[in-house]
Amino acid sequence: MNIEKVGIIGCGLMGHGIAQVAAQSGFTVVALEGDQGALDAGLGRIDRSLAKFASKQVEKGKLTEEEANGWSAQTRGRISGTLELADLADCDLVVEAIVENLEVKNELFKELGTVCKGDTIFASNTSSFPIAEMGKASGRPERMVGLHFFNPVQLMRLVEVVRTDETDEEVFAAARAFGEACKKTPVSCKDTPGFVVNRLLVPYMSQALQMLERGDATKEDIDAAMQFGCGHPMGPLTLTDYVGLDTTLSILEGWVERYPDEAAFQIPQILREKVAAGKLGRKSGEGFYVWDGDKKA
Ligand code: CAA
Ligand code: NAD
Repeated sequence: MNIEKVGIIGCGLMGHGIAQVAAQSGFTVVALEGDQGALDAGLGRIDRSLAKFASKQVEKGKLTEEEANGWSAQTRGRISGTLELADLADCDLVVEAIVENLEVKNELFKELGTVCKGDTIFASNTSSFPIAEMGKASGRPERMVGLHFFNPVQLMRLVEVVRTDETDEEVFAAARAFGEACKKTPVSCKDTPGFVVNRLLVPYMSQALQMLERGDATKEDIDAAMQFGCGHPMGPLTLTDYVGLDTTLSILEGWVERYPDEAAFQIPQILREKVAAGKLGRKSGEGFYVWDGDKKA
């Protein structure tokens, strides 16, 4: 099963990174967004990231400036942006990375099922929802997988490849090979809530927020404790800002609704309050911390 052309839907925090690593690996990429402003923002992020990588290569003496600029332009040249779903019709693989809302995702997969060629592989980057439900919505459950990349996609080395009971073995193998081609380490997962990483990570983040809520420690001390006590690259509150408070809330709300008896799935009130106040983390400039672009202010 040969993958050459890849459609990425949603060019936000995750989608822009997936588009970039796919293009870096030689795939032809079509990035779809809902409106021109969001598309320009996503493509702008890719431009800045490629420029960063290129200048690092020059600094390290690995490439000349001319070679680095050439690499960057060639990679960017493989990515086109669109607002039209029809432009994804001939993609061999479509990776969805839109808002964490199952109804919206199902609606999108239903449309994709009518627009894309018969052998297109469908993948979702969802953090928490059942892949099988999206496969059912698409009308092609055997061609549906989860391809769960990690944030920031350019730097994190893992991709979880999720198979449902109905995923065709060849489709699963092709999706896994795509992850490897993007220079990620793939792990195979069943279609369970949060797969491997988020089943462990999101309850941990939720516990940290509840700790802050109770006043057990300051946010700085909770973060420092996990950084210096456990060697995590960032503490749980910084990480929640990094992931997006809206996305974290959507994950937990979905789980609490589906699995009300699972004690590990709890929604901290502070998370609801921050999201209601529009404090979504790094992407909105403030969450638990204030952000200046990609760095903490
Ligand atoms: N594009 C290009 N280059 C980038 C970049 C980007 N987007 N972001 C950073 N870089 C470069 C930097 O310029 C820097 O280069 P040099 O080392 O050559 O100077 C290098 O990459 C490292 O960047 P930072 O200095 O910002 O790096 P750091 O050491 O502070 O590490 C980090 C940043 C990799 C994000 C690290 O803090 C980390 O691993 N954090 C944890 C992230 C994590 O847990 N992610 C998972 C979230 S959960 C999830 O994704 C699943 C879900 O469904 C919610
Ligand atoms: P985001 O809010 O940064 O980006 C979502 C993008 O999708 C936005 O740019 C929005 O304009 C676009 N969009 C929404 N509906 C659309 C539609 N119908 N058609 C086209 N574009 C549409 O969100 P994100 O953090 O990139 O998350 C995207 C997905 O990836 C979610 O399912 C999330 O759970 C998952 N995920 C997130 C992270 C993370 O750390 N943020 C990590 C792994 C997986």
